[in-house]
Amino acid sequence: MAGDALTEAYKKTHPRSGELHERAINVFAGDGATSFVRILDPYRPYITHARGSKKWDADGNEYIDYVMGHGALLLGHSHPTVVKAVQEQVARGVHYGDNHELEVEWGELIKSMMPSAERVEFFSCGQESNLMAIRLSRIFTGRKKILRFVENFHGWADEVALPPDSPGITSREVKTIPYDLNQAEKELATEEYAILMTEGGGAHMSGQVPLDFDFVRELPALAHKYGTVWHMDEVVTGFRDAVGGFQSLVGVRPDLSSLGKIVGGGLGAGALAGRSDIMQAFSSRTPGEKQVLHSGTWNANPLTSSAGIATLKYIQDGKPQAKANQLASYLRKQGNGMLKDKGINGWLYGRSITHFYLGPIEFEPADETSPPSNDINNVVGIDRARLRLDLHLLNRGISTLLARMFILSSEHTEKDVDKTVSALADALDAMIAEGSIKKA
Ligand SMILES: Cc1ncc(COP(=O)(O)O)c(C=O)c1O
Repeated sequence: MAGDALTEAYKKTHPRSGELHERAINVFAGDGATSFVRILDPYRPYITHARGSKKWDADGNEYIDYVMGHGALLLGHSHPTVVKAVQEQVARGVHYGDNHELEVEWGELIKSMMPSAERVEFFSCGQESNLMAIRLSRIFTGRKKILRFVENFHGWADEVALPPDSPGITSREVKTIPYDLNQAEKELATEEYAILMTEGGGAHMSGQVPLDFDFVRELPALAHKYGTVWHMDEVVTGFRDAVGGFQSLVGVRPDLSSLGKIVGGGLGAGALAGRSDIMQAFSSRTPGEKQVLHSGTWNANPLTSSAGIATLKYIQDGKPQAKANQLASYLRKQGNGMLKDKGINGWLYGRSITHFYLGPIEFEPADETSPPSNDINNVVGIDRARLRLDLHLLNRGISTLLARMFILSSEHTEKDVDKTVSALADALDAMIAEGSIKKA
């Protein structure tokens, strides 16, 4: 909204970012941004450095960061243990184009943390692991179709994109259904599905549309009854809220699990972990018609392996997860108290990734992991008010994912959270005053 007071104030305190944005729009067709979640009117800040829970922009503004590398940084920015490991490895070589001990250690750590990981395979990012899960399931079952849950996010490539009928997609083998066991059974009973994919925690970053644990517990038996591989996408949840991932919270054992984000310790990585009989397709001894040739220049490169190992070793006792969970819970408690006091229709819920619901309160949620509405449009919607809040928060030194997600790390502090709640309160007051949101 060019010309309005907030936008002009933001531009005044972000002139260098403005200059970089002007250059960027001549380079990046996506409104000058390199991911759609980084598009904002007039522009998001251009960051120069980050440490712990904070990051700083080219104009010297400081932010408490809740984007946290899109969820990759459970240990905050530039954790000394990870920095040391990466610095040492960079001097020893970043790519041997060969086997090395670090990849073995990295894979063994995953196996030790996630009991369903009988075998592990590395990739460059999370969606590659998902694509391979689909490929392996097709080989294993001899079927083609993919069953997914509505709004569950698995990447941008054809078979994992959201929505599955996005422009340019030719794959017609994806069916999405709501979280409904009867519908799941109806589809699975056709015995046409190779794979049932389930986003760990629930749709959008581990639970914006949360999964009920009892519902999840029914899925493996249901999938197996009809010969379908059950896959869990733990790209976000892998090692975030618990050492063994979301599956360990629920007490289930997926056939295949995708990892990403945290597994790479802040460098780009993906991993697929799961049943050895399904993953046997990678072996050169498997007959050709059941075999997968797994290539990938960056698979388990030594540099990423070093960051992954340093991170997994650091978090395998569960203490960083406990700290992030506890801070997120503190954020929800303080934030929800503030929203109630102000009479604003809003609710913070989730686990170590806390989601901010802004919309009609249809009922009192059963617990702090669920939203106060079952209407999926209310729950996932990003409207103008939301983007406005994003700018209000940035202007107050708080960086979130679309003003929707507060991604906590073990390096945030209660002081950070207190500042955040007061900035959120201030931003909401300003929005009421300017008429972009209303009180209940
Ligand atoms: C649940 C989930 N799966 C897969 C992906 C894709 O991972 P990547 O961006 O590493 O390919 C994401 C990315 O945010 C995700 O949230």
